[in-house]
Amino acid sequence: MKNEKTYLPLYKSEKLPELTNDEQTEYQKIKERIIQYNINEERTNLKKEEIKQLLNTNTNNQKIVNKILNDLQGYGEIDKLLSDDNLEEIMIIGNDKPIYVYHRKHGMMITDIQLKDREIRQIIEKIANNVQRKIDKQTPILDARLPDGSRVNATIPPVSADGPTLTIRKFKKDPYTVIDLIKSNTMSSQLASFLWIVIEGLNVRPSNIIIAGGTGSGKTTTLNTLTTFIPPYERIITIEDTLEMQIPHDHIIRTETRPPNIENKGEITMNLLLKNSLRQRPDRIIVGEVRSSEAITLFSALNTGHSGMGTLHANSTNETITRLTNPPMNVPNIMINSINFIIMQNRIYNAHIGTTRRITEVAEVVGMEMGHVQLNKIFQYDAANDTITYTAINCNAINKIAQLKGIKYTDVMHEMDNRKKYLEKISKKNNLNIHEVQTYIDKYYN
Ligand SMILES: Nc1ncnc2c1ncn2[C@@H]1O[C@H](COP(=O)(O)OP(=O)(O)O)[C@@H](O)[C@H]1O
Ligand SMILES: [Mg+2]
Repeated sequence: MKNEKTYLPLYKSEKLPELTNDEQTEYQKIKERIIQYNINEERTNLKKEEIKQLLNTNTNNQKIVNKILNDLQGYGEIDKLLSDDNLEEIMIIGNDKPIYVYHRKHGMMITDIQLKDREIRQIIEKIANNVQRKIDKQTPILDARLPDGSRVNATIPPVSADGPTLTIRKFKKDPYTVIDLIKSNTMSSQLASFLWIVIEGLNVRPSNIIIAGGTGSGKTTTLNTLTTFIPPYERIITIEDTLEMQIPHDHIIRTETRPPNIENKGEITMNLLLKNSLRQRPDRIIVGEVRSSEAITLFSALNTGHSGMGTLHANSTNETITRLTNPPMNVPNIMINSINFIIMQNRIYNAHIGTTRRITEVAEVVGMEMGHVQLNKIFQYDAANDTITYTAINCNAINKIAQLKGIKYTDVMHEMDNRKKYLEKISKKNNLNIHEVQTYIDKYYN
């Protein structure tokens, strides 16, 4: 079914049964009492029986109790959207306008839920309260995280002229694995086996990697799946603006930045966290998204022998270099060499299968010539066949690994082929979660 005005498919939510007029009155009375009892956030896990006792009500009306429970726990009307793991994004744009959602399979959809400004404000304030922050005329923008890890951005007037808005990037409970990405053709098994070799580095030379792409192209997701290839004995430190990574690794420290408080104090920047991580003896540093001055700290660290991976917003490999070497990142050209590969990721619309995510290029940073960073294409995507192929005649990273291990280039390529077959074997199993995939990968080394 499609919406007539927007031509978008309709997302039908499960509705709580409508209350009759009498029930509505009873419901309102109970709500008033709840407000008097001043039930706050710490008490949001009330049980049905508790509510009845607390309210001193004899209502046996399940409909009313359910509606009260729904109001108290979580975020009311949008809870059912929050609990649907098929939704990537929930978008509320204002008074009496339908809520939009972005569905994993169907893309943008329009829901049958509409909220009043007042109700949207209530949800926003509840979210702000939960993270001890404020949203008001002075600070009309809120960036926060829900307890389940979902990322929230809220705005109120005057920044959003027509009323409060809420955009929720939902946290996937069961994160994608490298096997999922192979199965959905985001990457080929050959590409995965290549990345396995260069990330793990056959114990002698782990590669440093930037994953670049547009917003929502799946950079963070790809980064998360690729951490599977970090050997189990390594120590990982992650640095993020909001915790998104879900890495099933034993030895890991996760860190998160903090915005300044209302007095403009106490800000913890990525740069600070990154500098601090260098005193924590990391084997791998994972930076969620490289945006500004932390870039130079990261590149200095990579230049002095640390290994790292991160994502960056850019639309091509060349733009990645341009963004890195210009304000606000300002990485000196000469330091760009410390990354080995740029992986380009894209969100592509396909008329037959809908929205897809594809790795469209892997480029190796091979050096400098006349002041320009030189790139060598290793993998190239072909849109006509929807395939990505190994196009390199020679790959520096593979050469280096062979050299350091005292083996031949072809030996490394042979190992890559073994790993490709191993990944294909695992891919035959169904519904492996990220822990199970990790176990299979770790087993390979024994
Ligand atoms: N390879 C993929 N296949 C299907 N969905 C994906 C894939 N990668 C990401 N997604 C979904 O797309 C959304 C955006 O992904 P994310 O990795 O956060 O993108 P980015 O970091 O580029 O902004 C998420 O909801 C995620 O689940
Ligand atoms: Mg991201």
